[in-house]
Amino acid sequence: MITLLIVILVLVAWLMISKNRRQENVTVATHGNALASQYCGSCHLFPEPQLLDKKTWRDGVLPNMAMRLGMRMPGQDPFKGMDTVEIGLVRSLNVYPEQHLISQGEWQQIEDYYTTRTQRTTATASRNSHPIRPATIPGATYLYRGHPVT
Ligand code: HEC
Repeated sequence: MITLLIVILVLVAWLMISKNRRQENVTVATHGNALASQYCGSCHLFPEPQLLDKKTWRDGVLPNMAMRLGMRMPGQDPFKGMDTVEIGLVRSLNVYPEQHLISQGEWQQIEDYYTTRTQRTTATASRNSHPIRPATIPGATYLYRGHPVT
């Protein structure tokens, strides 16, 4: 009898935990998605989290995009590697604002959204991506005047 009771209790607890988890996931998805559409989509098209793997979002893209919304990690310098002329231009265009344009809480939700709904590995990322290279399109030229992307 006691064993049955324990089994039922464990089952109920497990059901409650898994229901909570599902709700948490839904919250991250809907709030994160709405915030990402609003903020990330204000400068360019809204990028789907599945485009990149977790590491690339977390360590590559998001810290850079955060600086464009006035958020900087301690010690992070958006002007690193630029010469004085470029720094002047970038500053005057306010590419990296000094003030936060988004709250810490909202940023956290965007970050959670992008790092929980990604591709699992870089291997999948490269398998699924189909980079468009001008070299493969007859008659096309580079629009970007910097170094060609390799
Ligand atoms: C203030 C404008 C602005 C906001 C806000 C912004 N981006 Fe960007 N994003 C840019 C610009 C400009 C580039 C091109 C940067 C470059 O080529 O160095 C870019 C490039 C990218 C790229 C291409 C990869 C790269 O590093 O060049 C991705 C992916 C991206 N943004 C995702 C996001 C996400 C996700 C958000 C929201 C969290 C976001 N962006 C918010 C301006 C913005």
